[in-house]
Amino acid sequence: MLKISGLNAGYGKFQVLFDVDVEVKKGKIVTIVGPNGSGKSTLIKSVMGLTKVYSGKILFKDEDITHLPTHLVTKRGISYLPQTGNVFGNLTVEENLMLAGYTLSKEETKKRIEETLEEFPLVKKYLRKKCGFLSGGERQMVAMAMAMMRKPEMILFDEPVASLSPKAAAEVLKKIMELNEKGITVILIEQAAKKALQLADDAILMTSGKVAYKGSAKNLLAHPELGKVYLGIKGK
Ligand SMILES: Nc1ncnc2c1ncn2[C@@H]1O[C@H](COP(=O)(O)OP(=O)(O)O)[C@@H](O)[C@H]1O
Ligand SMILES: [Mg+2]
Repeated sequence: MLKISGLNAGYGKFQVLFDVDVEVKKGKIVTIVGPNGSGKSTLIKSVMGLTKVYSGKILFKDEDITHLPTHLVTKRGISYLPQTGNVFGNLTVEENLMLAGYTLSKEETKKRIEETLEEFPLVKKYLRKKCGFLSGGERQMVAMAMAMMRKPEMILFDEPVASLSPKAAAEVLKKIMELNEKGITVILIEQAAKKALQLADDAILMTSGKVAYKGSAKNLLAHPELGKVYLGIKGK
């Protein structure tokens, strides 16, 4: 569904990614792990047209999206939840959802909000609250609901549970799995590697802007050296 080949990308003249080849199959959950600064965020930002791509190709459903601007990538069916700042704190939940539908007609937006709230019953409870007053977990749910407003085929999550309590993190991860069960392909960046790998089909390990491992998530979890060196996983 998503095919990245020979990707060299970065910011201005500062190259971050070197010859990255990655493939994501439809319907899967793929977790990207790796140390801080290894290029995980840069990889998914490249998909969204938020970096400078020097060479290489990014195909989504066999179509070249390499140099598309962000809003057109979104329109093709990919939603992106950045690590921070994914909701507007001074706006209510409802206003945030309305913003997420900005390319849709007013009626379509209303209809989509209703449908989305059915999928996110918890979000319905605090519809008129300002997002700034919500807990981290609640905000992440709102961000996910916003991403769903566009009926994406693929969602890219950048460390969605990084700053959450274990309980809130578990809820968010559960929701991500539910969305995946409905057919949405998921790319998930996580530092808390073990949990995120346990729920993934495939895994990509990034180190210094290169792909150090790609394959089944199970194999990476079981890999004694890669796991120990890069992920702090100490056996079972
Ligand atoms: N907007 C930016 N401008 C310049 N350099 C950046 C920018 N964002 C990230 N970098 C640099 O790119 C490298 C990879 O960062 P990033 O992809 O965020 O890593 P990760 O998500 O794996 O922690 C780091 O050296 C970081 O300092
Ligand atoms: Mg990052």
